Amino acid sequence: MSVRKNANFLDWRSQPTNSKVYPHFYQRFAISDYEELQDLNLIGGITFEKTYPDGVYHLRSVPSAGGLFPCEVYIQSRGIKGLLNGIYHYDPKEASLVLLQEIDKDGVEHCFDEGKKQKGLMFLISSVYFRSSWKYKDRAIRYVLLDAGHQLGAIYAGLCVMGRESEFVFEFDKIALNEMFGFRKDEFFTCAIKSAEEVDTTVNKLRQNLSFVSGCDYLETNEFIENAYTQTVNYEEQSFNPTPFFANIPKEQLKNAIINRRSIRAFRALGMEKSEFETILDGIFLFAMKHNIDIYYTTHLVNDVQQGLYKNDELLQEGDFRSKSRYLALEQNLGGQSGVTFYFTSNDVQKYQKVNILSGFLAHIIYVKSELLGIGCSGIGAYYDDECKEFLQTKNNILYLLAIGR
Ligand SMILES: Cc1cc2nc3c(=O)[nH]c(=O)nc-3n(C[C@H](O)[C@H](O)[C@H](O)COP(=O)(O)O)c2cc1C
Repeated sequence: MSVRKNANFLDWRSQPTNSKVYPHFYQRFAISDYEELQDLNLIGGITFEKTYPDGVYHLRSVPSAGGLFPCEVYIQSRGIKGLLNGIYHYDPKEASLVLLQEIDKDGVEHCFDEGKKQKGLMFLISSVYFRSSWKYKDRAIRYVLLDAGHQLGAIYAGLCVMGRESEFVFEFDKIALNEMFGFRKDEFFTCAIKSAEEVDTTVNKLRQNLSFVSGCDYLETNEFIENAYTQTVNYEEQSFNPTPFFANIPKEQLKNAIINRRSIRAFRALGMEKSEFETILDGIFLFAMKHNIDIYYTTHLVNDVQQGLYKNDELLQEGDFRSKSRYLALEQNLGGQSGVTFYFTSNDVQKYQKVNILSGFLAHIIYVKSELLGIGCSGIGAYYDDECKEFLQTKNNILYLLAIGR
């Protein structure tokens, strides 16, 4: 199997635009003008600018495979002081909310369970897949779901700083919502977060569907991805409140970690402490197992922790697997020079979208927790699939690799 040998030649000048821009006549509201939303930009705002000879490149609070940013975030707001009740598009570059439609007795709730009115914020995450399939072709289906999971994690972390609750929702009428938002097949919803109180009134369907606005400046459709989405979009899943992963962390500290989070490019091969490793992993395995995700990992450089291959917290095999993990991560040094390399896996094919999204979510929690301890982290979306399965001796699908260390 060779992902590397089949790598397509990429002309970066042909990269599609990576953020959706609504036409100029849509009303825009600066997030900083609303007291209750002061920290809202933590959910995906620009946190770093890199200047290259050919222009400025923006990095965000959320990581993204290849830096291609396929996700968009829409927010329905009711009852936020000073802000019109409405459906908004979040514009990370302008740090603003773009009003798509005012709401009253109608709203997106119509596509959720019993359609009960939600007073507060509802976040809807979509993927504009061509931004990613432009580079990764069919494999982009995995990347857009992992990216959606990181986006979920970034919204969750931002809401923690804002002192707001989160409820994760995977089961809703995504197809109807795609239609309501005027999406064609190139953009689709994958998951949502409610940070709202339920009111005992049912909400009507939007009185008018939103206009189609393209998520890219041009588009090459990919039938494989569109079919993969529609074949896996419907599954049963109760909404739930996630584990309070950041419960004991002072808000200012969490905020700084969110802003400073970056993907590490190379490790210095220094060890981390066992206590740091345990802090990072606190609650991760329980959450993962509850959602049918098995996390394998190879420990390379953790003081007082046996080098070896583990599954959840069980040691499967002692040994130094640095060169193996480097190889499996498509021969990227990150995989072998790390303190620990994780392998997110699952056998749940029914909930393919959810297990991928939640792997991205857990990876995001690990990113932020590592940052809090001054430990580096990087997602690794490129790996040798079959060889990983063979090494881990599992029939599970391999969803994602992640490396942490110094
Ligand atoms: C799903 C996913 C897969 C990634 N895969 C790799 C990878 O294989 N190799 C790598 O060096 N970085 C990888 N990254 C890191 C991205 O390159 C990085 O997030 C992006 O360039 C933005 O930089 P930042 O995370 O520092 O903001 C991945 C990130 C994500 C979210």
